[in-house]
Amino acid sequence: MSTLLEDVRQLLASAEGPSRKLLLIQLHEIIVSVETPEETATRISLYPVQTSAARIGQDLKIFETLTNSGPKSLQELQEITKAHPLTLGRLLRYMASVGLIRETGVDLFDANKKCQNLATPEAVTIVTHLNNYQDVTDGKATVFQPAYNTDLDTYTWFSEHPENRAALIKYMAMEQKVRGRWLDEYPIETASQGWDPKEPVFVDVGGNIGVYCAMFKNRFPEVPGRTILQDLPSTLAHALPTPGVESLGHDFFEPQPVKGAKFYHLGWVLHNWNDEKSKQILLQIKSAMTAQSVILINDMILPETGVPSFSSTLDLVMLGACGSRERTMKEWTQILGEVGLVVKDSIVYDRNLCHGIIAATLG
Ligand SMILES: C[S@@+](CC[C@H](N)C(=O)[O-])C[C@H]1O[C@@H](n2cnc3c(N)ncnc32)[C@H](O)[C@@H]1O
Repeated sequence: MSTLLEDVRQLLASAEGPSRKLLLIQLHEIIVSVETPEETATRISLYPVQTSAARIGQDLKIFETLTNSGPKSLQELQEITKAHPLTLGRLLRYMASVGLIRETGVDLFDANKKCQNLATPEAVTIVTHLNNYQDVTDGKATVFQPAYNTDLDTYTWFSEHPENRAALIKYMAMEQKVRGRWLDEYPIETASQGWDPKEPVFVDVGGNIGVYCAMFKNRFPEVPGRTILQDLPSTLAHALPTPGVESLGHDFFEPQPVKGAKFYHLGWVLHNWNDEKSKQILLQIKSAMTAQSVILINDMILPETGVPSFSSTLDLVMLGACGSRERTMKEWTQILGEVGLVVKDSIVYDRNLCHGIIAATLG
């Protein structure tokens, strides 16, 4: 048995990128499939404690202290945090037991890689909140508002909190590296053949700081036409300086100012909004489209059954943070149909994470 476990450990240590991720998913699925119903119930009911411990570790700056100032004793940490020594000792012991920090001796603690990561500002913990198990679709009535003591929706709040916006930008860049694969999957070059170089070819709506615009320019230097990055002005202030990419501050609930582009790209935008708001965003783009235009929705396409844990977790994060959702193909077809758009193509380019691209046109 120990050799078998050692083999698995070595396999994981040497695997990289998507194959490592797949291995982790498969190992997790094996664990879930063999545990008893009671073990499942225990795992689920105890899991939130890890989230709370991570939150407390951030709040008391335990992760920051161990990362930046080296190993500490319980007494030293007590002097820094001012927490009760007994409570602090129990908390530190728990954190070590779930691998958030390392216990190096009796009442002695040190940072490990997880602790170093949790010490960074972008390691934000989101806890979902359910309202009597009813559906939450109001983006201003989620766990986010009481948690941050605000009446604002998540993105308006981000636009007023530069530190958190910076963390979001970092997280997005990390995700975009994985999701950037869509550029190899959709036939951009064929679909834009003969395009007028003076006309807009790629408009990234809600494109954040322009990672996809940069990828588009690098991947398709020969594709003719203008590339335009759109987002809220506060985000565009941090836009990447990519030659050939124009930046245009735009609120996607307002009429789309760039008319007749070939591609309007919406990456991880609609999953932040309920159906009604998503339809408003789609209608504003639709009003600028011509018969040649294509909306490319780069979002999850959930299977009807067997949603992998990463995707179902993100769906709950959307519920908790935005009162929104990840969608199945049936739901995408419905929502697009309701605004008069026709699905021309849909590709799931990462089956393990459900990342997909949907192409929709006027007719
Ligand atoms: C989840 S991020 C997605 C970023 C990027 N499109 C991607 O695929 O990774 C959502 C983006 O929508 C932008 N956003 C939110 N509200 C907006 C609005 N009303 N108008 C334009 N952009 C908005 C945010 O600033 C953020 O960059």
